[in-house]
Amino acid sequence: MVLIGRAQQALEQVAAELTGRGTQTAVLCIDLASSQAGGQIERALADRGLYCDVLINSAGFGLFGPAAEMDRDDQLNLFDVNARTLTELTLRFLPGMVARRRGGILNVGSLTGYTPGPNMAVYYASKTYVRSFSAAISAEVENTGVTITCLCPGPVRTAFFERCAVGQTQLSRIMPRANASDTAEAGWHGFKTGKSLVIPRRIDRMIAALMILLPDNILVRLVRAFQKAPAPVTRAEFPEPRRARRFKEQFRTTDVVSTNSKRIPETELEESPRPMPHEPGYASTSGSARSAS
Ligand SMILES: NC(=O)c1ccc[n+]([C@@H]2O[C@H](COP(=O)([O-])OP(=O)(O)OC[C@H]3O[C@@H](n4cnc5c(N)ncnc54)[C@H](OP(=O)(O)O)[C@@H]3O)[C@@H](O)[C@H]2O)c1
Repeated sequence: MVLIGRAQQALEQVAAELTGRGTQTAVLCIDLASSQAGGQIERALADRGLYCDVLINSAGFGLFGPAAEMDRDDQLNLFDVNARTLTELTLRFLPGMVARRRGGILNVGSLTGYTPGPNMAVYYASKTYVRSFSAAISAEVENTGVTITCLCPGPVRTAFFERCAVGQTQLSRIMPRANASDTAEAGWHGFKTGKSLVIPRRIDRMIAALMILLPDNILVRLVRAFQKAPAPVTRAEFPEPRRARRFKEQFRTTDVVSTNSKRIPETELEESPRPMPHEPGYASTSGSARSAS
């Protein structure tokens, strides 16, 4: 097994564990955002006299925020790791698999690949790409002895949420997170049994079915509503709570009614809301309201 990533120490730790269980393991420290990554991996395998029998494209990360405000290079790096390098590795190793009539590819997509995702636009789009690409090549290699599986889990408890601020959103908080090893096992089992798509949990399968039924214009509104960052607010920007607003309106009506002993018809009241006692212009405007009655 060849483990690929950037964090050498973490990879070596896993490699030692696997070696202890009798699996021959090697570590390659490669940045998958680099356009050289595919070539480097292929050369490293050839140097060791190896070929790729099973490819697992799992590396990926998310970025949270409006696309127009986030760093462009970061977003392109995300696309490179999640989609471009995944495609390159697939295209490099798939022909050999087909020629040998064995092996396959397990691509890690996501439930997010079923909808456009405001505030994570590139991430969601990259996962939509992974789902589409995997389904298409899976159909192409049917009956060749090679299988392609796309694993599309819902939220999973991993370091993903430490690296990406999406964990703070309402959507993230209401969606229960799955266990990482259960998710990996479901994906591997699906791959071994030749499934083209694996969505491990029933709740996530139901959500995926719903997302397939809903049109994009509804989905974007739903995701946008639930996937908002808790933006830091200054006192001036702080929205007035609904109860306080109602009280304020009541206070104004009562003010006018009590002063004049009769309710003023709505049409006779000023169109723009009158300022409160602490707001500029309170005295003059409230005076005019009284005299208007
Ligand atoms: N967690 C979830 O809720 C969830 C749900 C659905 C799908 N997924 C997908 O599952 C996959 C794995 O994510 P995870 O949840 O296990 O998150 P994770 O714990 O953060 O793991 C991400 C992995 O990707 C590697 N990676 C990221 N950028 C890389 C780069 N430029 N070059 C090489 N390796 C890179 C990381 O290695 P380094 O240490 O080198 O950064 C790390 O091993 C991702 O594709 C993610 O989109 C996750």
